[in-house]
Amino acid sequence: MKRAVVAAVLALAACGHTAGAPTAPTTPPPAANEPDPLRAAAGAAGKLVGTAVQSAFLNDSRYAAVFARHFDYVTAEYEMKWDPIERTRGSEDFSGGDAIAAFAAARGMRVKGHALVWHQAVPSWVGGLSADDLRTEVERHIRSVASHYRGRVLAWDVVNEAIDDATLGLRDSTFRQKLGDRYIADAFRIAHDADPQALLFYNDYGGEALGGKSDAIFALVKGLVDQGVPIDGVGLQMHVRAGAPPDEAGVAANMRRIAALGLRVNISEMDVRVGDIGGATPANLDRQRSVYRSLVAVCVAEPACHAATFWGFTDAHSWIYAAYGADAPLLFDAQYAPKPAFSGVLDALMRR
Ligand code: XIL
Repeated sequence: MKRAVVAAVLALAACGHTAGAPTAPTTPPPAANEPDPLRAAAGAAGKLVGTAVQSAFLNDSRYAAVFARHFDYVTAEYEMKWDPIERTRGSEDFSGGDAIAAFAAARGMRVKGHALVWHQAVPSWVGGLSADDLRTEVERHIRSVASHYRGRVLAWDVVNEAIDDATLGLRDSTFRQKLGDRYIADAFRIAHDADPQALLFYNDYGGEALGGKSDAIFALVKGLVDQGVPIDGVGLQMHVRAGAPPDEAGVAANMRRIAALGLRVNISEMDVRVGDIGGATPANLDRQRSVYRSLVAVCVAEPACHAATFWGFTDAHSWIYAAYGADAPLLFDAQYAPKPAFSGVLDALMRR
């Protein structure tokens, strides 16, 4: 059984996409009592299993060991965004993203670049640009970053969070104000030109199940497909609450309609909060487990869903604390012990 799983992972690695093709997986030897690696189960299911990381955490040997053992896909949580790369106009710093890409390449992981055009993490100097200068700088930024990582990333989140929650139209960002609605199609065309091998995604939150937001996302990407824009898929962020998770059947139906456009889909930033239902009690951690299991299972069952990525893996580090307050949203606790949530994900990947 174990041998079959390993063979399936190697076969997946061998026949996969050419961009960012991994070297042979080199997960560290398992210590006693270590849980089965998620990446083996995901490989057997034909999926990638990912996490967001920050390069500084890779120096922590416990963090690095758990990351390498369980994941075969990685997203830079912060360091491939525009602001950290180009805080000063014209001077680019790729060191953080490069460290993540090098760690990944050495361990047979694929990389998802994140995110080329987003209304947050924009360098402050961008705000003062004229429309013409902004057009020039956005194009130069996309070209430069996508070219820098060409051959090293499987995919890019090209445009992130462009839908406005209140109006369900396009968000009134500086990009839309100065460049018009076409900035989205243009971003995909430029990214494709700079890295024709990379899979190009539109990524957003709150549009996981059927509903107004997911209808707006669907309409946006259908419009891009209809215009012949080079888009390959949609990322469903899946930052959810254990007390009010998205409807499982609705997520499946949403993934299906995206797949019917000929696009891929992925779970791109999943975490499951328990703060608003009273924190990490045993009962709440079990609710969290079942949310992880049921939603990852939707991806496992949907052929067009090629990856499930979590927005971190240990409760020692999560963006949730700054954004929403105390919580325990991830698969491992702060001491790196697997939580019930981990078992939920493993069960989903193993179809049990
Ligand atoms: C967050 C990171 O987790 C933080 O470390 C950073 O300070 C801000 O961005 N949606 C996204 C991600 O697409 O890029 C965000 O990541 C979380 C919400």
